[in-house]
Amino acid sequence: MNFFRKIFPTKNDRDVKKIRPVVAKINELEAGLQTRSDDDLRAKTAAWKAELSQIEDNAELARKLDEILPEAFAVVKTVCRRLCGQDITVRERPLRWEMVPFDVQLIGGYALHHGHIAEMATGEGKTLVSTMPVYLNALTGRGVHVVTVNDYLAARDAEWMGAVYKFLGLTVGVILHDQPPRVRREQYYCDITYGTNSEFGFDYLRDNGMALRKEEQVQRGHYFAVVDEVDSILIDEARTPLIISGPAVHTFDEQYAQWKPTVDGLVRAQQQLCNRFLKEAEELIKKLHPTDGANVKDAEALEHQIGLLLFRVKTGQPRSEGLMKLLEVPENAGMMNRAELELHKDQKKVDLYREKEELLFAMDEKSHEADLTEKGRSYISPKDPDAFVLPDLTTLLHDVDAGPETDARKRLEAKAKLQSDFESKAQKIHAISQLLKAYSLYQLDVEYVVQENKVIIVDQHTGRLMPGRRWSDGLHQAVEAKEGVAIERETQTLATITIQNYFRLYTKLAGMTGTAETEASEFFDIYKLGVMTIPTNKPNIRKDADDSVYKTRREKFNAVVSEIKELHAQGRPILVGTVSVETSEMLSRMLKKEGLIHSVLNAKYHQQEAEIVARAGQRGAITIATNMAGRGTDIKLGEGVPTVGGLHVLGTERHESRRIDRQLRGRCSRQGDPGSSHFFISLEDDLMRLFGSDRIVKLMERMGLEEGEELKHGLLNRSIQQAQKRVEGHNFQQRKRTLEYDDVMNKQREVIYGFRNEIINSDDVRDRLMDIIEEVVILKIEEFTSADAEPAEWRVRPLADWVNLNFPLGMPESEIAKAAVSGKEAPVKDSIYDGLSPAQFAVCNFISDSIRKAYELKVSFEEPDKLATVERYTILQAIDKLWQEHLYEMDSLRHSIGLRAHGQRDPLLEYKAEAFKIFDELMVNVKTEICHNVFRSASSLMAFENFLRNAPQQTLHHNTSAFGGTSTGTGQAKASDVVSEAANAAEAAAKAKPVRTGPKVGRNDPCPCGSGKKYKQCCGK
Ligand SMILES: Nc1ncnc2c1ncn2[C@@H]1O[C@H](COP(=O)(O)OP(=O)(O)OP(=O)(O)O)[C@@H](O)[C@H]1O
Ligand SMILES: [Mg+2]
Repeated sequence: MNFFRKIFPTKNDRDVKKIRPVVAKINELEAGLQTRSDDDLRAKTAAWKAELSQIEDNAELARKLDEILPEAFAVVKTVCRRLCGQDITVRERPLRWEMVPFDVQLIGGYALHHGHIAEMATGEGKTLVSTMPVYLNALTGRGVHVVTVNDYLAARDAEWMGAVYKFLGLTVGVILHDQPPRVRREQYYCDITYGTNSEFGFDYLRDNGMALRKEEQVQRGHYFAVVDEVDSILIDEARTPLIISGPAVHTFDEQYAQWKPTVDGLVRAQQQLCNRFLKEAEELIKKLHPTDGANVKDAEALEHQIGLLLFRVKTGQPRSEGLMKLLEVPENAGMMNRAELELHKDQKKVDLYREKEELLFAMDEKSHEADLTEKGRSYISPKDPDAFVLPDLTTLLHDVDAGPETDARKRLEAKAKLQSDFESKAQKIHAISQLLKAYSLYQLDVEYVVQENKVIIVDQHTGRLMPGRRWSDGLHQAVEAKEGVAIERETQTLATITIQNYFRLYTKLAGMTGTAETEASEFFDIYKLGVMTIPTNKPNIRKDADDSVYKTRREKFNAVVSEIKELHAQGRPILVGTVSVETSEMLSRMLKKEGLIHSVLNAKYHQQEAEIVARAGQRGAITIATNMAGRGTDIKLGEGVPTVGGLHVLGTERHESRRIDRQLRGRCSRQGDPGSSHFFISLEDDLMRLFGSDRIVKLMERMGLEEGEELKHGLLNRSIQQAQKRVEGHNFQQRKRTLEYDDVMNKQREVIYGFRNEIINSDDVRDRLMDIIEEVVILKIEEFTSADAEPAEWRVRPLADWVNLNFPLGMPESEIAKAAVSGKEAPVKDSIYDGLSPAQFAVCNFISDSIRKAYELKVSFEEPDKLATVERYTILQAIDKLWQEHLYEMDSLRHSIGLRAHGQRDPLLEYKAEAFKIFDELMVNVKTEICHNVFRSASSLMAFENFLRNAPQQTLHHNTSAFGGTSTGTGQAKASDVVSEAANAAEAAAKAKPVRTGPKVGRNDPCPCGSGKKYKQCCGK
């Protein structure tokens, strides 16, 4: 700690200091425990567990846990001591246990128990730190989850730390990707369960959104989660929600193939256009620097003109190589940036608009949007450019209503036509815009790769391939069309949750990482997690060099290679971090040319990779890794390495977020080891291009750097950090936005999942079913009759029609009218009938009673057990079908609100209002759907036929009845149809196939039903 901080301790220092007495207490207790037998420790654990598992009240439990914390931590510490010297089998290899928690680790454990993020530098032993709070909280018997970034680490930590838990008689489980539900459930019933965030999240979605029976659910609540590498999980991963999907019902996939040739042409035409602008710019640049050195007239105007031309190219063809080349000269980049700034100054953006209109389409690289211009529209459709402009639908519809047409049906038809024209236009425009993005912003081998006729996304952070993941909203199809591979059917969301909302389910949450500080406000804002920085056990002696900045990527990488060569000659191991797979491969080629032996990792195979990274500290080792590769794996220095200076970490680019850079740095100088780090940057790096400040460019200009010359200065580091902060802020806003939108969905999800669980968890849902029917009956009565009007004025016919369409009652209108007139009694206040008039109430009772009687009849022909399953299934099926459609609708709503956002209105508010409305409709629709299906499902064909035969005679003959026509023949045909549907459903329910991931599962992939078999041998047969 430096002198200044000793005199003025920060709040964090004070918080840490407050824990010191607890540490002393733990150590004192531990000294006392050393004489106790192993069995004593186990007995103590069992006694605590017996006591704590009885406590139901959360506050009471928390108090008790705080009380026993010092002793429980002491128990763990003693066990660690006893394990020393033993070989633990971890991932099939023996690993000697040599760890007894240091005091700083006890502090870290304390922070975790109290729901903080413990920021402890890389290599400080966080894995061990977590065992103490995990053990303590596992004593409650409520299950503790430890969340890691990949399957390999989950299995490793469960085995490694399992030694401690098992010693004390606790059970440890691990959730792995390919486990079937039965195995998963066993793991969740352990005291402690390790696993990755996506496995935990998907299990939650399957349990609550898809399981059809209690026995299919695997989790047992969300009490306490400790999240390792918490920044990676709660921040980086939180950008994309977890989604389980199946094939979409509504698609317009054919649009992409259809418009591909057009967009091909358009992109080519734009290229030519941009080449022309570039040429013009080059000529003007020559003019600006006459060879005879003469003074240039109107230099300023000339510069502005050049800047505009370059800006046009940037907007029209952002990845143009010619442009990149020109921008290598800082002066040119400066002219472009100034011109762009000028254009943005104008509030109305008249000039900006005019510049864009010089192009066929305009791309916005920051916001990732693509728009056709007037020119582009005429290019595609010379005769009718308006074919690509969305009309104002509201006005058009209004015009029809106000128009001369007197026939209501014709008006309706006209409106329907307008609507469908609008939709097909919108689809066209959307497809073209996605194709333009695919062509202009998504590069092969950077954003995605093509393998086996498939477009596979490359994770931007890790360089990892993500098979099975697809860009949404047609973008994936657009890229497939561009690459000429098979266009897969668009998928539809079956269940989804954001990482943020998943982790908010836990009663207690804590996290640990080497790098949390820069995102402290986000942790607090979103998760209510405070960050506590824990001092290191031994002082960190890493030497961080100032960043080196070069003009071009080429110069930068030459410098990188020469530094590697130089340090390698000294025998130092070097770990090189890259931001993308492409860069790591390019660098690998450069090193090969120099004859330098090295390993390349890009986060594809976690275990193998962990082993390579673990060896990265050996003398002379050169390891190239993407930033995420090997996170969480320990790097031990080889013999003699500390004397030559330890591991050197070399960053080939600054990452968008400072955190990721700090992670990379942290791979060296662990536990007081020597080490050093150095980052290389070029003005062509994305970070600098998109978010770098003018200052750096100006500075470089002023210095007039020679080829290959670097710029290195402490001030530069600050500017680069500024750029990173800007991106971090931008990304935070985006995540916050995603979350704000998801909060709306989250409330809806809670309602639906609550409803589902109520159904799944009750043995008998018949009462609930009858209640639902009654609720709908009330709604229908309110719809078709009026409390204020006399029954004689009611529209009884539609009500009777509705009843007879849904239930086999054959109820004549006259009976309903008769019941209405008989009504004398008003319903009880605050009952569900409140608001109905006596007449309506009487009708309600009459209809409901008739339905109940008919149902009793049906029950008498059924096998009770089977019927219970069918009933549950009837409700769940209605919920699932409509909820999935609802998710689709919410997606579209989200998208269309985005488009509407140009007006003055706050899109989020509009989204909320609209979402509320469609959710209300959803709930009504679910119940109506249930009514529609209760009498259409049976457990067997015989039961169904027997029931139909005995149902009131009129039913089978009533022409509005849905239950067959006038002859028994057709009635039977119908019956078998319906029953086979129901039987299939019941069978599906029994087979437990909750996940229908549809065609995106490869034949050799594990089956999504979780059986553990290959898809082709299971559901894909
Ligand atoms: N108390 C201890 N005594 C001795 N060695 C320890 C102790 N705690 C941890 N270690 C060792 O420190 C190394 C790093 O541990 P670990 O991987 O848990 O660190 P980490 O903080 O999780 O690092 P990262 O941020 O890279 O994930 C391991 O080799 C471990 O055995
Ligand atoms: Mg770790």
